[in-house]
Amino acid sequence: MVRTDVTDLIPRPGRTTEEGAGFFELRPRVRLVAGEGTARTERWLRGTLGAATGLSLPPGGAGDEDVIRLDIDPEVTADLGEEGYRLAVTPSGVHLSGGGPAGLFWGAQTLRQLLGPDAFRRAPLPGRRWRLPLTRVQDSPRFRWRGLMLDVSRHFMPKDGVLRYLDLLAAHKLNVFHFHLTDDQGWRVQIKRYPKLTEVGSWRARTKFGHRASPLWEEKPHGGFYTQDDIREIVAYAAERHISVVPEIDIPGHSQAAIAAYPELGNTDVIDTTSLSVWDTWGVSKNVLAPTDNVLRFYEGVFEELLELFPADPTGSLPFSAFVHVGGDECAKDQWRQSPAAQARVKELGLADEDELQSWFIRHFDNWLSARGRRLIGWDEILEGGLAKGAAVSSWRGYQGGITAARAGHDVVMCPEQQVYLDHRQDAGEDEPVPIGYVRTLEDVYRFEPVPPQLDEAEARHVIGTQANLWTEVMESHARVDYQAFPRLAAFAEVAWSALPAPAERDFADFERRMAVHYRRLDALGVAYRPPAGPLPWQRRPGVLGRPIDGEPPNV
Ligand code: ACM
Repeated sequence: MVRTDVTDLIPRPGRTTEEGAGFFELRPRVRLVAGEGTARTERWLRGTLGAATGLSLPPGGAGDEDVIRLDIDPEVTADLGEEGYRLAVTPSGVHLSGGGPAGLFWGAQTLRQLLGPDAFRRAPLPGRRWRLPLTRVQDSPRFRWRGLMLDVSRHFMPKDGVLRYLDLLAAHKLNVFHFHLTDDQGWRVQIKRYPKLTEVGSWRARTKFGHRASPLWEEKPHGGFYTQDDIREIVAYAAERHISVVPEIDIPGHSQAAIAAYPELGNTDVIDTTSLSVWDTWGVSKNVLAPTDNVLRFYEGVFEELLELFPADPTGSLPFSAFVHVGGDECAKDQWRQSPAAQARVKELGLADEDELQSWFIRHFDNWLSARGRRLIGWDEILEGGLAKGAAVSSWRGYQGGITAARAGHDVVMCPEQQVYLDHRQDAGEDEPVPIGYVRTLEDVYRFEPVPPQLDEAEARHVIGTQANLWTEVMESHARVDYQAFPRLAAFAEVAWSALPAPAERDFADFERRMAVHYRRLDALGVAYRPPAGPLPWQRRPGVLGRPIDGEPPNV
């Protein structure tokens, strides 16, 4: 059995004190005393820790000994904020106090780590004892938005896999799941008024295997989508774990799957859109939405259903649930330049060019979402034409978009492709499966700094957080997703949560030491991470072309 102590936690907590060499053991009689506002964590402890340990954790009363006590403490709220917590393990039990329900939940994640790697299994191993080191922890996050984006368009991840990823986010104290639901290669969310989006748009006949320059094809249909009830389940499962789900419907580019389903959405005066199918290879498709009123009305219909599926949380415990991501990246302008209808639109609106046409498109939905009490977020290209007040930006083409946005008073999520695109290979070695993009090692991610030094203090406050992105062109299975995400997502989680020093001063050796324990947790969770010594034989993809030119992202 691996003994965990308080110095092994990931992400590293704010302050810890060891209280001697003893321990508190969770025995079958241990009870759960749950105060007001603690119901979600109470359910999670019984369900998840209960399954791992075999303990039933019956409810206890105020006077009981041998307890796990949960409460929301206004003093913790005042000192550490809603997401902060204090954890005390003493000889008579565990006392976990949250600044709010979310803080309490993050504290429960710390408690699970302290129980040792076997607490990450789904059933108890025979003879295990559940000992907690005597300790005090005081902790709160550096950033409010701690996200992961998952692209389920390029390769579909069935619902069970998504729920599993939500558990993995929770275990790393990440609280935003950016759900990239549509792209050229597949439409993944049921929209009842437009059934062909999924009947036609959710699958393709074959798929490029490797980088788009690879000659290989996977000659079988690929597809899948989430029903509206699947989405509701995913959103509720995330909410139980204090994770906001931010859905993305990408417009006006990255829309070929939608155009294949409804050809009238495309630039019909330039190409015969009835001949288009869901795209089966990678890159940036030239088939983009037409800038017509009909297209705006169509997408208003899509967003109407989406807002119902992804409600803004009225209690405020899911701070980012009001956001809707509209993409806005990489909209090829070739067809708009050639289209008489698009050109007439540019003239009619008094716009300078096609770039302004794209801004007009995004601004329409910015206003539309604001009028419904929601907030738009988009990739940094959306900045180019000026945005409404509440809109936020995902800065992906390096830091610059984020710097410009913060200076203009917009909130920013830092996710520069040069640092935190986890589809990019994590080692320069020949064995990396389908290597694309930059080489970004575990240490590189650990030394990623979300706030650029160019920003002054007031501007830096607009950096509401950071996010790692997983584009899945070369990840055909959940094991491939795991391989790209882990272990780097653990380093990313520490960057997002912990108050680390400047990048050069970060103690990577200590992080690696803690990772030795964390790998055992990931093993217990069944995560197919990249081992420190390199890929296992079955994790390699010999002969499948990546893009082994450092410095170039995969789409280009
Ligand atoms: C992006 O990587 N196209 C946002």
